[in-house]
Amino acid sequence: MSNKQIIFCTREIPAKGIELLIKKLPTNVDIEICAREDGPDHSTLLKKCKNCDGILSMLTDRLDAEFLSQCPKLKIISQMAVGHNNIDIDYCTKHNIAVTNTPDCLTETTAETTLALVLAVSRRIVEAHEYVQNGNWKIPWHPTMLLGQDIHGSVYGIIGLGRIGQRVASIMINLGAEVLYYDTKKLEDIEGAKHSGTLENLIRKSDFISVHCNLTSITHHLIDEEKISWMKPNCIFVNTSRGSIVNQQALIKALRHGQIAGAGLDVYEEEPLPPENPLTKLDNVVLLPHIGSASIQTRNSMAVMAVEGLLSYFCKEKEIKHLVK
Ligand code: DGY
Repeated sequence: MSNKQIIFCTREIPAKGIELLIKKLPTNVDIEICAREDGPDHSTLLKKCKNCDGILSMLTDRLDAEFLSQCPKLKIISQMAVGHNNIDIDYCTKHNIAVTNTPDCLTETTAETTLALVLAVSRRIVEAHEYVQNGNWKIPWHPTMLLGQDIHGSVYGIIGLGRIGQRVASIMINLGAEVLYYDTKKLEDIEGAKHSGTLENLIRKSDFISVHCNLTSITHHLIDEEKISWMKPNCIFVNTSRGSIVNQQALIKALRHGQIAGAGLDVYEEEPLPPENPLTKLDNVVLLPHIGSASIQTRNSMAVMAVEGLLSYFCKEKEIKHLVK
């Protein structure tokens, strides 16, 4: 019987990650990479991982306690994402399975996606583009054609002042917004941004709100019907974190009835968003398919970090790199 160690990588990863694997993976470790673009289904994933020592996972691979309890050899999960709500971290801690992720390298890119959504909704970019493409632009210029909302001079509310939240804060401050933030951790005010005291205060005062916290049992449906009812009628709501932080039904209701001005969403309670979901029929939303970190450079960096996490274990480095904190 071979005493080779085995890694299962649930998706083809960007080239820089593969190059690093080829260069550094020890010869006593075999890696199998799933070639399916949509990854293995859950039962294939389990079949593949049952005898594995390591997994290179994506945020869509459900690695819950039931799954993990059937992988007795597993020593490390390296997740190619910053979010890790698909992994039962408590189980891993109890059973000595290291979990690594890819923070930092995607902070700017995700913040830029947030900005793109804010601008797309507030300046009606998609609608304006379609207006031109569909031949509806008949009057050369009109004082009230396709009016939107400014970022400068507005109050911009940030929920969750982690790395991405901080980066969004600094972008919005530079664009001339007054930034409020809410975070359960007591943080020093960052220059130009003020803690709102309560989440209610932030929601009631903000013209724009974006969410940047992790999905946990506490943040699940943090933005519910009541919180949405506190939003101003001109409020534009943006989510690039995790869909389940928001009660999507309540958000749809508010958008449909014009209770808030619009939303820019990259993430949903169910992904892919079913084509028949009412969000796809609303004209005050801009919808993206979970591409917050999707730049060539950042996805390469994420792949490299994910591989570094694995290599640090399999090459027996002094410390495992990029452990989830
Ligand atoms: C993450 O890393 O958690 C994002 O959702 C994908 O980049």
